[in-house]
Amino acid sequence: MSNENNTENHTFTLTDNATGQQYELPVLNGTVGPKAIDVRRLYRDTGYFAYDPGFTSTASCSSAITFIDGEEGVLEHRGYSIDALAEHSDYLDVCYLLLYGELPSAQQKKEFDFSITRHTMVHDQLASFFKGFRRNSHPMAIMVGVVGALSAFYHGGTDINDPIQRMIAAHRLIAKMPTIGAMAYKYSIGQPFIYPDNDRTYAENFLKMTFAVPCEEYKVNPVLARAMDKILILHADHEQNASTSTVRLAGSSGANPFACVASGIASLWGPAHGGANEAVLKMLAEIGTVDRIPEFIERAKNPDDDYRLMGFGHRVYKNYDPRATVMRETCHEVLHELGIKDSPQLDIAMELEKIALEDEYFVKRKLYPNVDFYSGIILSAMGFPTNMFTVIFAIGRTVGWVSHWKEMIEDDEKKIGRPRQLYTGNGHRKFESLDKRAFEAAHTNGNGNKSLWGKLWGAKKS
Ligand code: CMC
Repeated sequence: MSNENNTENHTFTLTDNATGQQYELPVLNGTVGPKAIDVRRLYRDTGYFAYDPGFTSTASCSSAITFIDGEEGVLEHRGYSIDALAEHSDYLDVCYLLLYGELPSAQQKKEFDFSITRHTMVHDQLASFFKGFRRNSHPMAIMVGVVGALSAFYHGGTDINDPIQRMIAAHRLIAKMPTIGAMAYKYSIGQPFIYPDNDRTYAENFLKMTFAVPCEEYKVNPVLARAMDKILILHADHEQNASTSTVRLAGSSGANPFACVASGIASLWGPAHGGANEAVLKMLAEIGTVDRIPEFIERAKNPDDDYRLMGFGHRVYKNYDPRATVMRETCHEVLHELGIKDSPQLDIAMELEKIALEDEYFVKRKLYPNVDFYSGIILSAMGFPTNMFTVIFAIGRTVGWVSHWKEMIEDDEKKIGRPRQLYTGNGHRKFESLDKRAFEAAHTNGNGNKSLWGKLWGAKKS
């Protein structure tokens, strides 16, 4: 991949008002979506860096996998809209599309499904890793550790410069994540691990490994299996989100894919990202009853209170999250199938949704319910404990992570990710030997304010 052919014939002129000097910056053209100003030579040509904490205006790479138009609420994978994929595909169809760029033919699908199914077992020795964790460990903590540990089992065969080995690593990760996720759950509740069943679909297999016990036959409810499949599809990829960017950044140094995906899992865990579906359920429990909603809405609106309504708002979507539309429908199907009509949790969720869609604060800031608002409710109804929600997000997102990792490795323009910074610390200072350092100087941050260590030290003394 190269941006040479994407360069627009117009440029962007930057004027330094201090010197009057002008610089021409190339403009890059994507297939659809906003153009980008190419600032790669900015520092070399002007001596300035671009400053963009949180990357709100910075494209860190070019990618042909996923397109999002946040203003219009559009999400497309390789050109196919998410609602069409959720409606007509299954999760492994979408995995193939993300990894290989095209929807599979019937034969390709058969071979792909076979390959994923045959990689679902984990090395038996991996099972002993779980015993090292406390039973009450968060399953995401186990996921970070165990997925990272896959490097110790498959490192010898993972030459990232070999396209075949890259693809085998991708298949292994997609295949083993549900097995590891289900094992993390089984370990936490003290039940034996359930082996994958090669006759099941990907979603059915995950449900079985999670909920079956060896002493009973397990029947998969097709409505729940289809809902799980949709949840996985809706979480499969979301372009350069925090965890995918983490995977790309880790991979840019040449790290192996298992280690990179472990870093993605760590990033996903945070409540502002994948941890939001768990946070939604905690919030619903905290609110407790419908009559307490106004109190929480007021807190969310109060500029002096950090409180946020979990499951609302999105960095990119400033219109309805298209995944939330599908998820909302699936949520009602699952609740209907399970006969759940009167649930205080659901009542609160529906009332919150209604208020947020009407309240001026939320409307003005375009804070719509996002995918995690509904996925938490569905997963809870299916019987998953809240701490498994982000694990399920991680299982679905693995294909996105490995597709981006693979795309990055195969990109001619790849470079080690190494952002710059605007330094705001002390200027150069003369080194003081220990006996000459005054207490105040050593315990302030240079501006006369107490440093954290100074505060801790002061607190200890008093
Ligand atoms: N509740 C109340 N106010 C909010 C919320 C919220 N959930 N989200 C944003 N705002 C306000 C925020 O206070 C700010 O107000 P003001 O302009 O008066 O200062 C304004 O809306 C813009 O917020 P922002 O922080 O600039 O928005 P962001 O793009 O940096 O943050 C977000 C996006 C998803 C981190 C944020 O909306 C949030 O924390 N939402 C709750 C967590 C959540 O549901 N995350 C899941 C995202 S979807 C899954 C995924 O893709 O990972």
